[in-house]
Amino acid sequence: MSDEFFTRKEFDEAADAIRNRTRHHPQIGLILGSGLSPLADEVGKADAIPFSEIPHFPVSTIEGHMGSLVIGELAGQSVMVMQGRTHYYEGYSMQRITLPVRVMQVLGVHTLFVTNAAGGINLRFQPGDLMLITDHINIIGMAGLNPLRGPNLDEFGPRFPDMSCAYDRALQMIARRVASDLGFTLQEGVYMCLAGPSFETPADIRFLRAAGADAVGMSTVPEVTVARHGGTRVMGVSGISNVAISDPSEDRETTHEEVLEAGRIIVPRLIGLLKGVLRDLPPV
Ligand code: HPA
Repeated sequence: MSDEFFTRKEFDEAADAIRNRTRHHPQIGLILGSGLSPLADEVGKADAIPFSEIPHFPVSTIEGHMGSLVIGELAGQSVMVMQGRTHYYEGYSMQRITLPVRVMQVLGVHTLFVTNAAGGINLRFQPGDLMLITDHINIIGMAGLNPLRGPNLDEFGPRFPDMSCAYDRALQMIARRVASDLGFTLQEGVYMCLAGPSFETPADIRFLRAAGADAVGMSTVPEVTVARHGGTRVMGVSGISNVAISDPSEDRETTHEEVLEAGRIIVPRLIGLLKGVLRDLPPV
């Protein structure tokens, strides 16, 4: 089987395997980034399915990504939570890392919440901040790594999908209100996805800042691209796990451990934010 171009048949096989293991009919998808998996513990009446038991699903290979699908109830909504995700740098194709989003679409998910751990590029950001993603820069897509490459899946969406409003404005407004009610500052900005796995050089960071990025990570954009192609509504939040280093004379390093550690600060805020938005979710 090709790792690059999947068809409806493969999405259906995965969707059928999931249907056989849960009584829920989720309409909301949630993808949890590095260090954010504890959020899935909030899901009530949960059915958990390891990714390894779902046909065609990619399996996470890194610490901090648990690798199961948790389906149940959260803040009055029926949700399907990817507890962990896979990335292009793990060796999977763009199409395979985004296959779970296609399967969500087949299962009837109309709204997707994507989260990630990201390095703060904007000088006002601090570790532990949440950043509402208002837009993204698909620099790896510009260079050719787009999950929509290959035969277009017409039943999901058009060959040339619009990306002028990838992150739903109404959901952003609700998120701002919820954060203000909860009493924390919700940063906002543009997320830039690189392929990884090496972190950026200081010169990379200065380049990304000049290009208009506020935060940098190694995920999210492929999933959002596939979600929007299929007409799924999206809200995205980055947990700022570290401040990216843009001055080579700074005596600091970026480590995966600091990314996971910041997750512990970010998780309670993110839980509050997501639950608040889910409670007030407008119909599609
Ligand atoms: N760079 C890229 N990806 C990341 C970072 C970073 O500094 N922090 C968390 N994910």
